Amino acid sequence: EKITIDYRNVVSVLSKNDLSSMEKRIKLCHNMLHRGNGEGSNYLGWINLPSSYEQEETKKIKEVAEKIKKESDVLIVVGIGGSYLGARAAIEMLNHNFYNELPKEKRKGPKVYFAGHNISPMYIKNLLDVIGDQHISLNVISKSGTTTEPGIVFRIFKEYMENRYGKKEAMTRIYATTDRSHGALRELASQEGYETFVIPNNIGGRYSVLTPVGLLPMAVSGINIEDVLEGAKRAQADLSDDSLKTNNCYKYAALRNLLYSRGKTTEVMVTNEPNLYYMGEWYKQLFGESEGKDGKGIFPASMNFTTDLHSLGQYLQDGKKNIFETAINIEKSQEDIAISKDKLNLDGLNYLEGKTLDYINRKAMEGALAAHTDGGVPNIVINLPEITPFYYGYLTYFFMKACGMSGYLLEVNPFDQPGVEAYKRNMFRLLGKPGYEEVYEEIVATLER
Ligand code: PA5
Repeated sequence: EKITIDYRNVVSVLSKNDLSSMEKRIKLCHNMLHRGNGEGSNYLGWINLPSSYEQEETKKIKEVAEKIKKESDVLIVVGIGGSYLGARAAIEMLNHNFYNELPKEKRKGPKVYFAGHNISPMYIKNLLDVIGDQHISLNVISKSGTTTEPGIVFRIFKEYMENRYGKKEAMTRIYATTDRSHGALRELASQEGYETFVIPNNIGGRYSVLTPVGLLPMAVSGINIEDVLEGAKRAQADLSDDSLKTNNCYKYAALRNLLYSRGKTTEVMVTNEPNLYYMGEWYKQLFGESEGKDGKGIFPASMNFTTDLHSLGQYLQDGKKNIFETAINIEKSQEDIAISKDKLNLDGLNYLEGKTLDYINRKAMEGALAAHTDGGVPNIVINLPEITPFYYGYLTYFFMKACGMSGYLLEVNPFDQPGVEAYKRNMFRLLGKPGYEEVYEEIVATLER
């Protein structure tokens, strides 16, 4: 089954003609993606990756995952941005909601904790407390191999592991995922003799979830990575034509760009499954970093229903009307619970007797989307048949392709991220990194302003 989209609730803002008027531009941008004649064309490696994935690579990932499962109670994944969010989104979406808390015999792999996506000493100390005397393996992920946050955190864990296991054994418990030949992490890994995985140089961080960046941590947690790749491969085939009529991810890209041109400058991805929370985080990075440039771009946000209907719901209903929603509708739930009858009915909930939580959850989503539409917040619904590794692969590919298309429609380069450098430059100067001395005067002037 395909992922389908339903855009009945944009009719208040857009008409059928609006969509068909995009057809020509879609074809142009399709060529930019497939023929590589647009900006950032050195980073299009993800487009044909699923159909050309090497079996040798999958085999190696699975073997290493088995080794980690045997040797360790805990896997620490060190990375940030595109080297962090895809694996976390998959592990949270496809495993038990309380995966790390489950007893060992109920988990398909070691516990997985993430680090290197912040530089909080409290976070690291608390993580070390949780690890205690459990055995650990570590996967450090950085394409550039020079990113400060994972670099610092890896240094701390490397020292911790060498003190605990001795240098020789620590080396066999550390796995580095990085560029084939460049960067400090590649150099360090070869000096120290770590097992390594390669991030292809034509795939940027936020488009790298279907490489070992995402696949190794997924496999360790027991996710069937062949199914993930199969889903992505299906998506690659389903989403390969240049027609707005049949290509659902192009339809989605066109709709969000049309909505943007009508003043809907914020997109909120909404879900009603808490285990899709990190899918929302992954989507925010993908679209935010790809489109937010040259003074343009939709601001990507995310909400979890019904939790956030009791926080941001008020704003969506009655606040500024520059928002549209994109809802992920899971068509088939894996679990369900029926509401039973209560003799006294003191809570007044007997009207729900015999109904199931899945049904109620759906009605809450439908009700909220209808209310928001009436309140001037249109929505697009993405129907995901079910939460499985196959559809995770399909969904991530769907969003990456929609994002590439969307960026080109907006006339930005969806594959660079020049704006991320600005904070780094200042931080490096404030920390006294050699080579950044001249930045000092500018920062002082800004801070004093
Ligand atoms: O999408 C991107 O390119 C970024 O978000 C990177 O993934 C992030 O900055 C981490 O970079 P690296 O993998 O080089 O450590």
